[in-house]
Amino acid sequence: MPRITRGLALNPDRNRIAHLMYQVIARKYRPQTFQDVVNQDHVKTTLENAIAQQRIGHGYIFSGQRGTGKTTVARILARCLNCVTGPTAAPCGVCASCLEITAGGTVDVIEIDAASNRGINEMRELRENVRYRPARDRYKVFIIDEAHQITSEAFNALLKTIEEPPEWVVFVLCTTEAHKIPATIASRCQHFSFRSVDFDDLMARMAWICAQEGIQAAPDALAVLAQAGEGSVRDSLSALDQAIAACGLRIEAPAVRALLGSFSLESLHQVTAALAAGDPRQMLELVDELERNGRNLQHFSRELARYFRNLLVARIAGPDTRLIAAGAAERARFAEIAAGFSEEDLTRYLHLSLDLFRDLQFSLQPRFHLEIGLVRLVHAGRLLPIEQALADLGDTEPRPAPSAERTGLPVRVPAAPPLRTGPSPFEADRAKKAARPAEPQNSGANALAPAPLVPGDPRERLHAWLTEHGLTHVADAVENSRVALSGGDIVIQAPKSYHLYFKDRSFADALRQVFARPLNLKLTVDESAAPPVALPEPPAPASAAEPADEAAGRALANREVQRFREVFGGEVRRIRNLKEPT
Ligand SMILES: Nc1ncnc2c1ncn2[C@@H]1O[C@H](COP(=O)(O)OP(=O)(O)OP(=O)(O)O)[C@@H](O)[C@H]1O
Ligand SMILES: [Mg+2]
Ligand SMILES: [Zn+2]
Repeated sequence: MPRITRGLALNPDRNRIAHLMYQVIARKYRPQTFQDVVNQDHVKTTLENAIAQQRIGHGYIFSGQRGTGKTTVARILARCLNCVTGPTAAPCGVCASCLEITAGGTVDVIEIDAASNRGINEMRELRENVRYRPARDRYKVFIIDEAHQITSEAFNALLKTIEEPPEWVVFVLCTTEAHKIPATIASRCQHFSFRSVDFDDLMARMAWICAQEGIQAAPDALAVLAQAGEGSVRDSLSALDQAIAACGLRIEAPAVRALLGSFSLESLHQVTAALAAGDPRQMLELVDELERNGRNLQHFSRELARYFRNLLVARIAGPDTRLIAAGAAERARFAEIAAGFSEEDLTRYLHLSLDLFRDLQFSLQPRFHLEIGLVRLVHAGRLLPIEQALADLGDTEPRPAPSAERTGLPVRVPAAPPLRTGPSPFEADRAKKAARPAEPQNSGANALAPAPLVPGDPRERLHAWLTEHGLTHVADAVENSRVALSGGDIVIQAPKSYHLYFKDRSFADALRQVFARPLNLKLTVDESAAPPVALPEPPAPASAAEPADEAAGRALANREVQRFREVFGGEVRRIRNLKEPT
């Protein structure tokens, strides 16, 4: 007498039966007809037509992602061919052939797992078997799963059979890796690619299954399960099994997320919020929070890459795209977040997050890697398209990025500071030139003109450091401003057009290096001063140009050329008239 616990001993038979009857959902709900198969319409229609027209091929290759219906459709095809009412696209489902195929194979429908039968001997055996007529049914159907595992000699042994099989034989080679099937075999077969299943279809299928099982599943919980499957029905259904085991008859999203180790949109949004704020500290805190809650950092980096991918897609294709595996509300949220970034930014973030994901796979210090990766995202910063940078030199209002105009999305101009505020350097330049004849140098009459640099004073120290580090623009800004230290503050009075330089990270670095203590930056506007010019003067037009070349003069006087030099610096070395042959 086996030792059993008391609870089970009360009704051992019932427990045994319940145990035997339990079947995982993916198997229990394996479609038995073409109608039940989700997606894959191109496969279904072609096969249905072939059956209706009695034009059945002898070799088929079903390829595609795992769990998308290859084996399922192969079995349905076998039923269609062998049903007593057939060949028919709508098998009866009750005859002996139909029932036996459902249960997993008959003498005439032979499933071979090529992962464990991949050698030449097995294929010779198969070749033998092919020669005999079906024992009972119309066709002998060979369903070879994982066909790419078959060795090349074994494939060669099959070649002749697949090319000219007896009329009663149909081969179906199922594989996730179609490119590994030798061309000699592939060219003798009809090839069907199975697609990964659309999010909405998967959601509908799971909702239907839950209804059959008497399970109440919240739509957002199903969405998490559908996303976890990444287009594979089987994977999503396995996740559903797991969720039912964990949660019972009511399934809610947070519990499912906890179970699968996935992350909510809002937790991922912390990353984009930190990016929008340009704040690396928030990133470090986020990593700390993940660690403290025992979250898997590799998972997080994978989900982060997917998150940026979805943002990029939302940015390009708008909220209604079916390219994002998410419900309508979530897609709208993606679009909303994405609107705060340019397409270029999101592309870079996606790139970096993929690198991060890759690094984390092999990392012995995942936490450090994640920290570096996220901080690097912040440093990667946000770029303005060149056109916009140039245009912004001319007017004060930043324009929407061109990509935004294309998608027709509402444009939120990035939270990053606009390139420049106050008068443009051109106006500044003109003002300066206008002032020059009357007032050759600061004569002392203008009290607000920048004072000379006094060795050792904070302004001079800053200036020296910035110059030494090649930050000449910022150094010029310092030179043309007033700087005072007062307790924990550094007070800078500067023309508005320089403020951006002072808000830049490189200036914060300079402060830290030069004064070696935390300082609070107080920027005030110096309105009375004519904005001094920090940038090199554009070369004087024709009159001053040495070669007195008219074309050169015109080119140098060109506004666009000048703007270009303003933004990118450099010198003009050669001028070529594109209308003339070189
Ligand atoms: N297109 C589909 N429609 C409905 N259910 C599907 C579909 N694809 C897969 N399933 C479900 O997933 C289970 C596994 O499907 P199937 O065995 O056909 O996948 P496969 O493509 O052969 O995968 P693998 O490459 O891993 O062998 C099925 O039992 C069924 O429940
Ligand atoms: Mg299969
Ligand atoms: Zn039948």
